Amino acid sequence: MQVPFRDDKPTASPLTDRFGRQIRYVRLSVTDRCDLRCVYCMSERMTFLPRARVLTLEELALLGRTFVELGASKLRVTGGEPLVRRNILWLFQELGQLRERGLAELVLTTNGSQLERMAADLKAAGVARINISLDTLDPVRFRRMTRTGELDAVLRGIRAARAAGFERLKLNAVILKGRNHDEVVDLARFAIENGLDISYIEEMPLGVVADHDRAEVYYSSDAIRADLERIFTLTPTTESTGGPARYYRVPGTDSRIGFISPHSHNFCDTCNRVRVSAEGRLLLCLGQEHSVDLRHVLRAHPGDRERLKQAIVAAMTIKPHGHAFQPGGPVTILRAMNHTGG
Ligand code: GTP
Ligand code: 5AD
Ligand code: SF4
Repeated sequence: MQVPFRDDKPTASPLTDRFGRQIRYVRLSVTDRCDLRCVYCMSERMTFLPRARVLTLEELALLGRTFVELGASKLRVTGGEPLVRRNILWLFQELGQLRERGLAELVLTTNGSQLERMAADLKAAGVARINISLDTLDPVRFRRMTRTGELDAVLRGIRAARAAGFERLKLNAVILKGRNHDEVVDLARFAIENGLDISYIEEMPLGVVADHDRAEVYYSSDAIRADLERIFTLTPTTESTGGPARYYRVPGTDSRIGFISPHSHNFCDTCNRVRVSAEGRLLLCLGQEHSVDLRHVLRAHPGDRERLKQAIVAAMTIKPHGHAFQPGGPVTILRAMNHTGG
């Protein structure tokens, strides 16, 4: 069954920025911790935030509810790895109840390592879709790219999510030249054979990574598409999942092939989203530092929902037009990806 992205609320949202973009999509990072150490995301030795600086589950639930009351229709839970946070199911259950209050989609981005044990409970809590990171199908490479991960755990997680009844599961593959660019066709084949969607992602320069020179590993979406078109027919579509991917269909299959191309096809004009970091910083753009400290608002004025709403609405005025990423350009965002989950 095709589940179209619902962004059809008729009234203007109080969450509208200076450029007239309506913010319907909120990404909540629930932890900076992760059981993997992907080379494009983290360094090998990480110092994670002390617990007191991370939002509590109650604070996250309150934020989710507040955003939905302000007109958000899609909440995506991200990390780090969200499923390593203790009692995270409680948060999904709380957020799932917001579907009665205007939330159209509760969704999750995960590395898949914990899905085998959690997929059924996530489904029961009301999670609609899951995006799963998977950059390679080779176990040795998988270990090299994630430093600590086990490919088979993710494959079991994907199977468990399908068995739990999730539809439109989507793989996220960050493609790096010399690392996994030669696997784009195999990844598409895997997606098609298993009835999954897949997005290919250009690496973004968040945080300093010691593993590789980002300019050297840049592999554009156009290069990926050319590789795929040697094997598959790709038909452009206007379908959207509400995120930054541009989708193609492969005739005769149920899969959608998406491209997330911050460098080669900027999508900022149609930006509909903001994100909250694990520390409670409302980040108005992934590729800029403009932010508002919602943790401070939550903790200095407990229970003051109006003040929280005002802080969020006021933040819309500082949402920048877009990022300034350049492939291989200088790292201007020192915050690592695991604080915001992308
Ligand atoms: P859908 O709901 O399926 O469209 O998900 P999504 O693509 O919005 O979310 P996901 O967490 O799967 O993110 C996939 C990739 O898109 C990650 O690399 C994110 O960093 C990137 N991404 C998501 N939103 C933005 C954004 O606003 N700007 C940029 N530059 N990248 C983004
Ligand atoms: N550039 C692009 N995508 C990234 N991700 C993590 N770090 C980066 C980066 N530097 C991806 C993960 C995950 C998604 C949330 O973001 O692979 O699928
Ligand atoms: Fe939106 Fe910023 Fe992402 Fe551009 S880079 S799409 S403005 S969050």
